Amino acid sequence: MTEFLENLKYRLELAISGAEVKRVLHGRGGTFPDQDYLNIDYYPPAIFITVFKDVDYSHIINELIKIHGGDRPLIVQERFGRDIKSISLGLELPEVHIVEEHGLKYHVSLKQNQNTGLFLDMKDERSKLMSNSEGKNILNLFSYTCSLSVAAKAGGAKQVVNIDQKKTFLNIGRENHRLNNCDDGVVYKSWDVLKSINQIGKFGPFDKIICDPPSNQGKSFFYKKDYEKIIRRMGSFLKVGGEFVACLNTPFEETSFLRDLFKSEGGKWELVQESFSASEYEELNKQNGLKMCTYRRCE
Ligand SMILES: C[S@@+](CC[C@H](N)C(=O)[O-])C[C@H]1O[C@@H](n2cnc3c(N)ncnc32)[C@H](O)[C@@H]1O
Repeated sequence: MTEFLENLKYRLELAISGAEVKRVLHGRGGTFPDQDYLNIDYYPPAIFITVFKDVDYSHIINELIKIHGGDRPLIVQERFGRDIKSISLGLELPEVHIVEEHGLKYHVSLKQNQNTGLFLDMKDERSKLMSNSEGKNILNLFSYTCSLSVAAKAGGAKQVVNIDQKKTFLNIGRENHRLNNCDDGVVYKSWDVLKSINQIGKFGPFDKIICDPPSNQGKSFFYKKDYEKIIRRMGSFLKVGGEFVACLNTPFEETSFLRDLFKSEGGKWELVQESFSASEYEELNKQNGLKMCTYRRCE
């Protein structure tokens, strides 16, 4: 067995021995140069493989089946070519697929969309929210399936306001909140963030704003054009002393992009922390992955 396959065996066995959802191998991070075309995740009971290049990956599948004995669902998502293709091997997925992270439950779907419903690179941010949200009023912009809000609510947040233009994502978000018995004091609005700034402000003032937009999604959002406006306008809905967590996930920019935007507002902001993808996302250059910059409003 090659050194890589031995390492993979160790990682998968470790993941399977636990009960929680987990990134098993972050090939895209470049630390395994020959495997930069794939990521492997464990969404109990399923193994989820994302393949980004049209190469022969059958040896990986054979190895994974050998390790886990073929007695669980194995889903391959091919993300090359014109369309995303999903291939099911092994057992059927559970009809309602729920996974756990930090003891909280989330709905996921490994076959319907490109994204599964839970971004695993945000794991550490969810953990932080579980420990520092007590009594807070939190705005979750671009909330998707509300996983960050679930974590904040579990951490004692008084109110969380979820804004996403897609009602279907917010419906899953509502289910996620219900699943964890933390649905009171939660607002769901299927609004376009850029077109609803004044309405959003009515739920403030906020103790924390989390902003995790797509980097470039057609007409909906483009970070180069739209981020500055979000920080300037939404920032005014924060209490003095409140925190703005600005996220950016594009390999084309570093944290300096966000730093420059906050700096351009004069002395209004003070940097609290720059952080990156969860530790399982081993990146050769962490600036290539998810970046999260927390700024405190000081005036
Ligand atoms: C990267 S995902 C957010 C992930 C989320 N923060 C999490 O950790 O699960 C981006 C989300 O932004 C939403 N979106 C894109 N453009 C939007 C806009 N202009 N207004 C509101 N939502 C938007 C998409 O529907 C998608 O759910």
